[in-house]
Amino acid sequence: MKVMMDEVFGIENFRNDITRIKCNPKNFDRVGYGNIKDLILFYTKTANPIWNEPRKKYSEKDLETLFAKKNKQGRRYTTVPIHAPGETENGKSNQPFKGILPPVGRHWRTDVETLEQWDKDGLIEWSANGNPRKIIYADEREGMRVQDIWEFKGPQYPQYPTEKNAEMLDLIVKTSSNENSIVLDCFCGSGTTLKAAKINNRKWIGIDQSDFAIQATQNKVDEIVGNLFTPKSDFDFVCLEEESILTDNEVQIAVSF
Ligand SMILES: C[S@@+](CC[C@H](N)C(=O)[O-])C[C@H]1O[C@@H](n2cnc3c(N)ncnc32)[C@H](O)[C@@H]1O
Repeated sequence: MKVMMDEVFGIENFRNDITRIKCNPKNFDRVGYGNIKDLILFYTKTANPIWNEPRKKYSEKDLETLFAKKNKQGRRYTTVPIHAPGETENGKSNQPFKGILPPVGRHWRTDVETLEQWDKDGLIEWSANGNPRKIIYADEREGMRVQDIWEFKGPQYPQYPTEKNAEMLDLIVKTSSNENSIVLDCFCGSGTTLKAAKINNRKWIGIDQSDFAIQATQNKVDEIVGNLFTPKSDFDFVCLEEESILTDNEVQIAVSF
């Protein structure tokens, strides 16, 4: 699949293979390791895709681990170095700060005026041996970057045999499209992606060869509570017959408008 996708999108547009933990460990009869994950291949069409950086909220445990220190007011924080690898010559980031030069082979992360301002604002923590570090407060961070291992278990009471996790599709739709973008799911099953698209004000196209899938999609999209300005069923079905170029089977398409 990866080799095929590289051909379709171009290997340079391959971004991530995401491990999605889909269920709890099970006892398998076959010889081999248990399978609790799916693999999501993430490609973009161009070098400048839509990317709405998602953030994962810190759990209490994350806060304790990542922001282990507390100031007098009880605000959680951590500190990071104010220098980075690489030397600059005659730049603003290799001048002395409070009489200290950056360590050999490194430069200040920003210009010295900004470091002075940070220090005035109480954003620099000085260690006992005079080493300055930048203070980062937990409550000023939007959360963590989303990494490439996801845990989105399958729905407990699926309306469709291979129904996917709604929150996962919500994350993908929000990250990789904007309002009024068109989201296409050409194997839409019960329409989980389409529901995420509709809730987030995207237009959508769903395709499936199964009548059962299309019925499940209709039910799922109809479940969304509309408002005065959004009619309940703001989509149409198109049925492509056998001569369709898409497959040999009958294929149905649901299109929002
Ligand atoms: C894994 S399911 C999709 C599940 C969906 N993401 C959900 O959350 O419900 C794959 C779907 O692809 C459809 N499918 C398989 N081959 C197809 C084809 N050649 N053309 C159209 N649909 C197809 C199947 O009927 C099935 O509903």
